[in-house]
Amino acid sequence: MSAVILDGKALAAKVKERVAREAAKLSRRPGLTVILVGENPASQVYVRNKVQDCSDCGIACFDYHLPADTPEEELLQLLTELNGRADVDGILCQLPLPDHIREKRVLETISPDKDVDAFHLYNMGRILRGDARFLPCTPAGVMELLHAYDISPAGKHCVVVGRSNIVGKPMGLLLLQENGTVTICHSRTPDLKEQCLQADILVSAVGREGLITADMIRPGAVVVDVAMNRNAAGKLCGDVDFAAACERASYITPVPGGVGPMTRAMLMENTLTAAKARQ
Ligand code: GUN
Repeated sequence: MSAVILDGKALAAKVKERVAREAAKLSRRPGLTVILVGENPASQVYVRNKVQDCSDCGIACFDYHLPADTPEEELLQLLTELNGRADVDGILCQLPLPDHIREKRVLETISPDKDVDAFHLYNMGRILRGDARFLPCTPAGVMELLHAYDISPAGKHCVVVGRSNIVGKPMGLLLLQENGTVTICHSRTPDLKEQCLQADILVSAVGREGLITADMIRPGAVVVDVAMNRNAAGKLCGDVDFAAACERASYITPVPGGVGPMTRAMLMENTLTAAKARQ
């Protein structure tokens, strides 16, 4: 058996085309602000990609690169100014931030109406309650990918590995919202292999190459790899041993070309949603 590849790259292109069509119908061009503090090389790549995505979708991008020693108060002041700007629909502050800046203060300063990451407490509360306006981009991208291949979590056992606020926790909530039975595993889970073997849908979001080996995958399971690691040869890879997993899974996401492009596409979708709500 060889798994069907969940082609995030192709689906993301379709989502972006739809966003571009919708954006063109609005009376004003949607605007996204992307803020990068410091020189984190991975963050620089992510931000560059977001700028390109905006250009592809007809979204105005306001791109701020601030020095690593920017005082917290200065960043908060910028966010407050952006909250009040009519031409800015979405505000994203790339994480991680330098150590002297308190992430929680930053995320709570972004207006919930412009919080296209859905990291503000208000938006996280709405996700928990099941009536979100913005969904966090990575879990939303995974759900969109599952829908596109007619994979429903309803009645399935969904195992999420990783409990981050950005991916693991909201991923579990979205699967639950669609009637999956959800287990969230983490670094203190004693029997990770046994848990994973229960999964009809297995989502790994840890960031450790080789964490999920083929013997942890139930034959026929759907495998979604959210991680983006670099192996010893410098090549991008996920948490899942992809080649061997293809022989066990029914569907699987590649890295790169799976979840990553979907995350980016969902950011464009959230920016469009914010713009529509504000116009
Ligand atoms: N850093 C890694 N992923 C993300 C994300 O989705 N949003 C932001 N703002 N920072 C990140």
